[in-house]
Amino acid sequence: MFHLDLAPADPILGLTETFNADTHPDKINLGVGVYQDANGRTPVLAAVKQAETLLLETETSKGYLPIPGVPEIASYTQELLFGEQHAIIEQARAKTAQTPGGTGALRVAADFLKRAKPNATLWLSDPSWTNHHTIFQAAGFSVQSYRYYDKISQGLDAEGLVADLERTSKGDIVILHGCCHNPSGIDLNKEAWETIASQAKVKELVCLVDFAYQGFGDGLEKDREGLHVLLDAGLAVLVASSFSKNFGLYNERVGAITIVEETENDATNTFSHIQAAIRAIYSSPPAHGGNVVATILGNASLRDLWIKELGEMRTRISTMRQAFVQQMAVRQQVVDFDFINHQKGMFSFSGLTQEQVLKLREDNHIYIVGSGRINVAGITPSNIEPLCDAVARVL
Ligand code: LMR
Repeated sequence: MFHLDLAPADPILGLTETFNADTHPDKINLGVGVYQDANGRTPVLAAVKQAETLLLETETSKGYLPIPGVPEIASYTQELLFGEQHAIIEQARAKTAQTPGGTGALRVAADFLKRAKPNATLWLSDPSWTNHHTIFQAAGFSVQSYRYYDKISQGLDAEGLVADLERTSKGDIVILHGCCHNPSGIDLNKEAWETIASQAKVKELVCLVDFAYQGFGDGLEKDREGLHVLLDAGLAVLVASSFSKNFGLYNERVGAITIVEETENDATNTFSHIQAAIRAIYSSPPAHGGNVVATILGNASLRDLWIKELGEMRTRISTMRQAFVQQMAVRQQVVDFDFINHQKGMFSFSGLTQEQVLKLREDNHIYIVGSGRINVAGITPSNIEPLCDAVARVL
């Protein structure tokens, strides 16, 4: 009836399908950004299991949630973003809605922004998460890129970034990665955040911070320092949070969209439009994931357990990052992988070309996204040696 060609496979989730279809016993998945423990499993956190037990015992209804979701999610998300008793919270200048994952938060933001700023251009880092392009184009935005990754230094192209943000028009929208930049693992330093904040002030840019990995860089507080540079500059900011990674709640689809405004009145008005956007997409979010997060953050011992487990995930990833660099140095001198030690979070831009990535897949059943992005959390003590042997062979 529609006579359509096949849609292209998603570069990340399509790779997972190919990986799942591969029957080789020693296949390695370094594709999708999902945490794996030392045994290659994606565990349910103990804090989550305990919260779920509590919830099963106490749940009395499956009635609809209000449009912004589980009510406590708003205050807990704001505590994670701003810190307890922050002036923004005291002045009620922030409003938060629970969303279906970080992707849902971004799509809500995109639909809201398209209504509020129909003529704005939307700016993404080059590179950025592939789904950023899809989400914002689907909402009708014209998308442009600002320079971010410097191929030569394998670090931040701070000059290129500033020069490209100079090209923005008044009122344009800039997407920033709060921490653990996806896909490069290269974060903005304080100076870069400050420069962006002053450019945003002059050009009245809207900053939308994608904060999908809070806690995976240097910890919950340190990871929000960039966001705080924008807030301290008095900018109106939107933040898309995800609880998929830091709570390991991938398939529960729980995240949040937060808007910070200049006054409580502005925040209330803006939030009414965010709620209208939500009503038009999915009406209200599913309850389970939000209830799990709210139960953990509302219970001192579960919260402590969660912070400990989050720390363990962060430490395991950074240990594997260092081990990969060491093991590669032992095997070859063609590439100095030390730059990987300076990257943060789950991902690492390895510098592998598309050709090398394909060869690793065909010859060794190792799955890496075409850009050369490696999910470091997929490296384990038992797969690191064959992985490094195979990478050394394709260099
Ligand atoms: C990723 O970048 O791999 C994750 O954020 C998962 C996804 O939805 O793409």
